Amino acid sequence: MKKVKLGVLVSGRGSNLQAIIDNIEKGEVSAEVAVVISDQADAYALERARKHNIPGVHVSAKGYRNRREDYDNALVQELRKHGVELVCLAGFMRIISPALIKAYPGRLLNIHPALLPAFPGLHVQKAALEHGVKFSGCTVHFVDEGMDTGPIIIQAVVPVLDNDTEESLSERILAQEHKIYSRAIQLFAEGRLKIEGRRVTVSGKETSDDEFLINP
Ligand code: GRF
Repeated sequence: MKKVKLGVLVSGRGSNLQAIIDNIEKGEVSAEVAVVISDQADAYALERARKHNIPGVHVSAKGYRNRREDYDNALVQELRKHGVELVCLAGFMRIISPALIKAYPGRLLNIHPALLPAFPGLHVQKAALEHGVKFSGCTVHFVDEGMDTGPIIIQAVVPVLDNDTEESLSERILAQEHKIYSRAIQLFAEGRLKIEGRRVTVSGKETSDDEFLINP
């Protein structure tokens, strides 16, 4: 199968990037990471990229204050330079402008550490704990112009335990993030995702209507 060229946008440690790279190397995802771009010069994710001989580029936001579109156009230029077909936001801590969304329509993904539409935004594991939900999880979705509002591709659910801390819950969720981002990319690579309004359908999927989760 043809390999989809990925551009991964990061700001920090890059554990999702690492999982994607590892799953590609294991042959589980027909993709290649063409470039990793960070808005932070010292993002550990850039180092991870370089360790795998993937170009790691810092595009500084300095000089783009109040010019989000211009910054995103600089990103688009860099993504195009590397022939990127699918853009994956993986801990990229900036709000995306229409410039990037229009350049990659239906080809821009994000991962979020909660079961959207519950708990959009930041510090969401803490918010889930404080709210007292019995399940949380993570979501991979297409990016639209809202904050964590785009059509949902895949979600993984984890239980929230009585003795959880923000750290322990984050860790449990992160382990699932590392699986579902690669899975979403593979479904995209196989051409199996179809966006119809807010709904994303997956062709050729076996479904079962008798699976339930109950906690406690
Ligand atoms: C993840 O929890 C992701 O869901 C969120 O930011 C975090 C990034 O972690 N968008 P990492 O940099 O991939 O380790």
